[in-house]
Amino acid sequence: HMISIIVGTRPEIIKMSPIIRECQRRNIDFSLLHTGQHYSYEMDRIFFEELNLPVPDHHLDVGSGSHADQTGAIMSGIGRVYEEERPDVVLVQGDTNTVLAGSLVAAKMRVPLGHVEAGLRSYDRTMPEEVNRVVSDHVGDWLFAPTEKARENLLKEGIDESKILVTGNTIVDAVYQNLEIAKKRGDALKTFEVRPKEYFLVTAHRQENVDNPEKLQHIISALTTIHKQYTIPIIFPVHPRTRKMIDQFQIPVNGIFLTDPIGFFSFLQLESKARLVLTDSGGVQEECCILGVPCVTLRENTERPETVDVRANTIVGTEPERILAGVQKMIGGSGGWSNPYGDGTAGEKIVNIITKRAK
Ligand code: UD1
Ligand code: UDP
Repeated sequence: HMISIIVGTRPEIIKMSPIIRECQRRNIDFSLLHTGQHYSYEMDRIFFEELNLPVPDHHLDVGSGSHADQTGAIMSGIGRVYEEERPDVVLVQGDTNTVLAGSLVAAKMRVPLGHVEAGLRSYDRTMPEEVNRVVSDHVGDWLFAPTEKARENLLKEGIDESKILVTGNTIVDAVYQNLEIAKKRGDALKTFEVRPKEYFLVTAHRQENVDNPEKLQHIISALTTIHKQYTIPIIFPVHPRTRKMIDQFQIPVNGIFLTDPIGFFSFLQLESKARLVLTDSGGVQEECCILGVPCVTLRENTERPETVDVRANTIVGTEPERILAGVQKMIGGSGGWSNPYGDGTAGEKIVNIITKRAK
């Protein structure tokens, strides 16, 4: 039962890690394929080191490029590997170009495809990720939906019920498995010289936000205003795409502590003790909800509506007044909601299903 596990970017490495660990624990025959979509040390290798993941069996080294070039390069790379390797099952996670390419190759080579984190929908096709996840769900054979809502989204699109399996999201496994380890490896709050509940944490990297000079400017100036109003530190580990755009648009940054992207261990600690998090990341919305930390989402919509339903998250877009109002609304709240993404056994459930069905 050779399972080919595909990863390419930061969130895929983190969210596949519980599945990889489960395969190792049960001695299941798998191989790991890294497309190289992310390649900077702090977007890639650091997670292999922290999460103790095996060296990939195949590394495509595709790097950055236009959507077409990147997706095409990943497809031909995976195609060549599978000509030789002929896996019995392919697993992809999430909604990146790595997922799109891996899904298409598996479907065309008639290898059963499992999509982890299936059924998420923002219903916004201007997001490249929405296109990717729709395609992957429609060519996939096993759709591992994190929630009941994700299952319903798939049913509405006419996808056969028998393909859909609600398992929870593997991010819960990853958070539970790593938060305690993280604390033992060093105190990130000390490193950043902040005290619990006395700082805000920020991330932003969505193409539709940061590649747009006006929106990026709005986000940065809203953060400056928030710093003035609340007089507490704002820590912003900057994604390389965002760093590039801040430089290119020559946006002045005041009152915000910008730093390179940080490892999962440091990020988890900072997240769990933040007064509030502002983000446009998918995974960060989920993690805040799991950790009981209020979240303000710098987007016009979300494919994680469960977080809003339990009142862990509010959707505010990028207009400074709306961002400020969102912060004001969420700042009082702290936890108390229940986590809609499962009990931390999604990895186990997914591996169980694959080993049973692949027979
Ligand atoms: C990708 C995913 C996005 C996901 C994000 C996770 C797609 C379409 N987008 O976006 O869904 O949320 O990863 O972080 O698949 N760069 C580096 N070093 C790296 C990687 C990127 O410097 O290791 C820079 C390059 O300038 C590159 C830019 O970041 O052009 C964007 O990288 P890319 O992988 O194309 O998209 P992300 O914005 O990272
Ligand atoms: N993350 C991290 N270091 C950082 C920022 C984020 O380890 O500096 C982790 C975070 O804990 C989450 C994941 O990266 O698990 C989210 O990835 P990202 O925001 O890049 O992608 P998305 O979830 O939006 O696809």
